[in-house]
Amino acid sequence: MPTPFIAGNWKMNTTIQEGEALVQAMLPRLQKVQGVTTVLCPPFTSLFAIGKLLQGTQILLGAQNMHPEPKGAYTGEVSPAMLAGLCRYVILGHSERRHIFGETDEFINKKVKAALEYGLTPILCVGERLEENRSGRTEQVITRQVEGGLANIPQPKELVVAYEPVWAIGTGVAATAEEAQKTIELIRRIVSRLYGIYARGVPILYGGSVTPDNIAQFISQPDIDGALVGGASLNADGFAKIVETSARVKG
Ligand code: PGA
Repeated sequence: MPTPFIAGNWKMNTTIQEGEALVQAMLPRLQKVQGVTTVLCPPFTSLFAIGKLLQGTQILLGAQNMHPEPKGAYTGEVSPAMLAGLCRYVILGHSERRHIFGETDEFINKKVKAALEYGLTPILCVGERLEENRSGRTEQVITRQVEGGLANIPQPKELVVAYEPVWAIGTGVAATAEEAQKTIELIRRIVSRLYGIYARGVPILYGGSVTPDNIAQFISQPDIDGALVGGASLNADGFAKIVETSARVKG
């Protein structure tokens, strides 16, 4: 069983100063927690400053996105070479990237490959939209996204997958723990088809309106190893509670 894994996705929020203040407010509590892999994913502009604050702590750093090419004429993009050495994780294929910025499974697959080449651990996000869920296509969509994201990639050194149903992100309407468990179990079966027994050690997270009040329900499910937390990760007390609860329930 993987160590419980909680990642905070700050999205396009916080200036450098606000990010530093947020970390300073939560760090004393996060540092007291053992047995949980805790990752903060601030915006690119804050990675360096937040990385400095996290030096010497067990809290790890992740980026929220990445371009697959190592360098070149891609105005405004950030490459794996730039992130390597700066952070350990990178969120790839987040539904906001898929649906607002039109990222395809093929493009996300290139990013996953590139991240691994540069020693970054991908947090590959997958999730169905409301109409796909309602029309009973969840399994089909998730299978396509997981297989597509990991296509032609040999067993990675380290991999994290996050199941985030699009209809639960930022809506305050989380999936039920049973629903999330069912789809995450499916994801583990797909990863196990690809990489065999290795799949047992891959942290698979739930994301979508996770709060200090509902985290225990999710983390206590057999296949749910943790959470990718958006809105609630911008609140020091709330995020610390989520990490503390995860340690208590599954640490
Ligand atoms: P939310 O976002 O927790 O605000 O719903 C989750 C995510 O998008 O990763």
